[in-house]
Amino acid sequence: MFKFRFAEGAADIDEVDSEQKDKLEWISASKLEITPEQIEAKYEAYYYTETEVLSGCNLKLIRSDKIMQDLTDQNCQNIIEAESKHSDLIPAKYEGGLKIWECTFDLGQYILEKEIELKDKFVMDLGCGAGVIGLLSLRKNSTVHFQDYNAEVLKSVTIPNVILNFDRTIVLTRCEFYAGDWASLATLLDESKKYDYIFTSETIYNPDNHKKLYGIFKRKLKADGVVFVAGKTYYFGVGGGMRQFENLILKDGCFDAEPVWRSQHGD
Ligand SMILES: C[S@@+](CC[C@H](N)C(=O)[O-])C[C@H]1O[C@@H](n2cnc3c(N)ncnc32)[C@H](O)[C@@H]1O
Repeated sequence: MFKFRFAEGAADIDEVDSEQKDKLEWISASKLEITPEQIEAKYEAYYYTETEVLSGCNLKLIRSDKIMQDLTDQNCQNIIEAESKHSDLIPAKYEGGLKIWECTFDLGQYILEKEIELKDKFVMDLGCGAGVIGLLSLRKNSTVHFQDYNAEVLKSVTIPNVILNFDRTIVLTRCEFYAGDWASLATLLDESKKYDYIFTSETIYNPDNHKKLYGIFKRKLKADGVVFVAGKTYYFGVGGGMRQFENLILKDGCFDAEPVWRSQHGD
């Protein structure tokens, strides 16, 4: 896990090179508004679990198997394709947000153990999936923006998870939800608001997305803000990894990087 912050005397923000190697069609970023139906939704007990997700932090979380089934029943093609290929990721179609990936637990545990001050902070859970890190930040009284590539993940998992764990005032006043590609996210967000913390877990697997992700750090982090990136050293079969991402950032010279935690298993 790495932590990034602006280097002292860092030059003004340059536009990140937006040239993308691939020809995939990425969905543009958009803001999702919470509907009254979502706010009022009542979830049957079999539809979620309540567990100690991080030590001392119990959360109610929608069951991903139920959602997979629901989205398949609703003929959601991206999810059907992922299921049929037994794949966690289909680039630009489904980016893995339905399951909780292991670095989320490491990042959450780190935040708790280091007692990172989140009260009244402005936080982005970037590539949130189920939104565990954002939920933890809300518990600690932050205002949180949740972002996932797939609107269906936000609608069927992330938003319900927030609603299961927080009252309507918190949901309506301290949360926002954004779908779509990182390349167009920064321009969609309020130019005048920047984050104290950007947390992002298991988002560096695809090297074609590294510049987009970094572009958000540069444009949306406060001058004294911190980014925590939790990810694996190398993602076999996909090609991205922590060293490669760190090198991209260090080469640009705007940010300092510091490794802050490493798994005992060395991955
Ligand atoms: C492997 S999932 C990790 C989910 C969650 N952070 C976790 O650790 O459980 C990758 C996340 O990054 C997001 N993501 C990947 N590529 C993206 C892109 N190009 N634009 C926007 N979001 C992207 C996905 O939507 C998903 O939320």
